[in-house]
Amino acid sequence: MRTALFPRAALIFLLAAPLAAQEKGERSLELSVPPASLGQWYRPTAKHDVWLHTMFALRREMQAVSEYSALEDRSRLGQWLDRLEKDYRRIGEMVPEWRDELELELFPKMRAAKTPEALGRLQRKLAKSCEGCHREYQLVAALRYRTPDFGAVKVESSETLDEEGYPAVMRRLVMLLNRVKIASADGRWPAAQEALEALRVRLADLGESCGACHQKSGPKERILGAAAQIPLEHVQKGVAAKDARTAGRFLGEFAVNTCARCHAIHRPLARLRRLLEKAQQQP
Ligand code: HEC
Ligand code: HEC
Ligand code: HEC
Repeated sequence: MRTALFPRAALIFLLAAPLAAQEKGERSLELSVPPASLGQWYRPTAKHDVWLHTMFALRREMQAVSEYSALEDRSRLGQWLDRLEKDYRRIGEMVPEWRDELELELFPKMRAAKTPEALGRLQRKLAKSCEGCHREYQLVAALRYRTPDFGAVKVESSETLDEEGYPAVMRRLVMLLNRVKIASADGRWPAAQEALEALRVRLADLGESCGACHQKSGPKERILGAAAQIPLEHVQKGVAAKDARTAGRFLGEFAVNTCARCHAIHRPLARLRRLLEKAQQQP
């Protein structure tokens, strides 16, 4: 697919402003946000990731066409060309915005090809149409539709029974973490103790939300189990002993083991998905 073909859908995200950026030697990535109509072919709207499975079928059909062409098995070749055409047409049926970009005229030519070489040349043309679309949309589509949806996850407070989204819960966690640190650095031990208790309650509440995506307890255990609890015990001892150095050191260890590790796994994807959802909503 050539550039600038999708005026409405193409919300190109440039990592830098073109002209000024080029002067500074910066490069931009021309990735585009796919049309929102693609979303209906993914879970949870669809029962399965229909789009992705159509793509897997296309790859298989391309391979079968090459193999039966080389074997000069005309009858199987004909069957696989039919399947390939049907699934290739499906692209435009599923996402009407992409209909005009398909190279359907290649199919009668492929059927009429007299030699494997002639068919091979036509198939490479078809593959170019696959690659053009992939270069522009594949990565963004996977990030938009196949990354965990933290926007849909709610965390219930065990104290107020209110439900909050991840960003609000996170802001509270970091506030409490810093409050323990500040209060113990300044020797305000009752305040440090109170914030530490609240932090542990909020963390346990957060732990209840892992099950929204993880059926097994392993992932939760790795982040919120001993890796979190042992350092927090030491923080508790530091606060009880009015020892700001111990409290601070183990707070740091807890933040690395728990907050930073969980962020390394989930946060970039959560942020990207959020960004792409917003971009798709713009007219
Ligand atoms: C108009 C756009 C478009 C065209 C044309 C297109 N694709 Fe795709 N394809 C996509 C998008 C978008 C994805 C990303 C899907 C995802 O990761 O959820 C994709 C993903 C794939 C994948 C999955 C790769 C992987 O392992 O994750 C395969 C295989 C694939 N396409 C094969 C093909 C073949 C073969 C053709 C041509 C015969 C083709 N596609 C034509 C848009 C297109
Ligand atoms: C699931 C594992 C997980 C754990 C454990 C975790 N976070 Fe987060 N955190 C996330 C995710 C995911 C986001 C991004 C949420 C989004 O943008 O939807 C985030 C976002 C944040 C943000 C940005 C909030 C905003 O304003 O958007 C802060 C601050 C934060 N976390 C602090 C913490 C602190 C401090 C801890 C440890 C006490 C912690 N997090 C533990 C997953 C986690
Ligand atoms: C919105 C969905 C979602 C939520 C909520 C979520 N995760 Fe994950 N997490 C994923 C996905 C997807 C992966 C990558 C695939 C996998 O391992 O399941 C992952 C991977 C992980 C991994 C690395 C793989 C492993 O088994 O060690 C850990 C650890 C983890 N998550 C911990 C947590 C913890 C702890 C929480 C709750 C505080 C949490 N996750 C909440 C979606 C989520």
